[in-house]
Amino acid sequence: ALPYDLAGVRVLISAGGTREALDPVRYLGNHSSGKQGYALARAAAQRGARVTLVSGATSDPGTPASVEIVDVDSARQMQAEMAERAKSSDVVIMAAAVADFRPLSVSGAKIKKGDEGPAPIRLDTNPDILAGLVQDRAAGRIPSDTVIVGFAAETGDADGGVLDHGRAKLRRKGCDLLVVNAVGGGKAFGTEDNTGWVLTADGRETGLPFGSKTLMASRILDEVASLVPDGLVP
Ligand code: PMT
Repeated sequence: ALPYDLAGVRVLISAGGTREALDPVRYLGNHSSGKQGYALARAAAQRGARVTLVSGATSDPGTPASVEIVDVDSARQMQAEMAERAKSSDVVIMAAAVADFRPLSVSGAKIKKGDEGPAPIRLDTNPDILAGLVQDRAAGRIPSDTVIVGFAAETGDADGGVLDHGRAKLRRKGCDLLVVNAVGGGKAFGTEDNTGWVLTADGRETGLPFGSKTLMASRILDEVASLVPDGLVP
């Protein structure tokens, strides 16, 4: 039987990939299918949580029952929804693949080929949503006991520095828990299965067995549940 250890806990999850418009028909995007974030939403709801899913672009992740879904397109739209909804959340999980950059300007009309070949695409930096949520918590804009969870998508393997990159990212982003998954070479993005590690700010490191994204979600939520303040859990 599934544990019912998140009953009534308000969980906010981002999933999928952001799309950064170039013109009315083109965008910069990534290969996130949303499956990992949707699996987390489904698993959290089954454990009794009240779940809101802020969803970027996805591919076939299935519709989770009893989950409020808010669709967004760009990183800045995702940031606005996450920042507002985090104010009334007990747990926030950033599983989305957020574009770090966006085109500096969006053309109102479809960009033409032109006589001089392709024009360069100039980029601007997107906000770091996860780091912003940690700052919001420090500044009192979201409750101090809200648990903030990030993901790290790193290329390579354990020997190839994935874990070291994850440890550095945990410190840099300042979240309470970071799920590290290796990507590249057909791993994690768009797949049915996943694997990785959960790192906590207090130094615990737990390996996650290779398996379905549902299994991965359930292991991640075990760790998350252990960080949720006692008063919240029945
Ligand atoms: O969707 P699937 O196909 O199931 O694939 C799942 C996944 C591989 C996308 C997922 O497991 C995952 O790793 N998500 C995070 C991808 C990512 O953007 O990683 P990152 O290392 O670039 O970012 C680190 C963290 O900061 C993430 O929590 C990310 O959501 C967040 N971030 C990143 C950039 C940005 N501008 N703002 C952010 O909040």
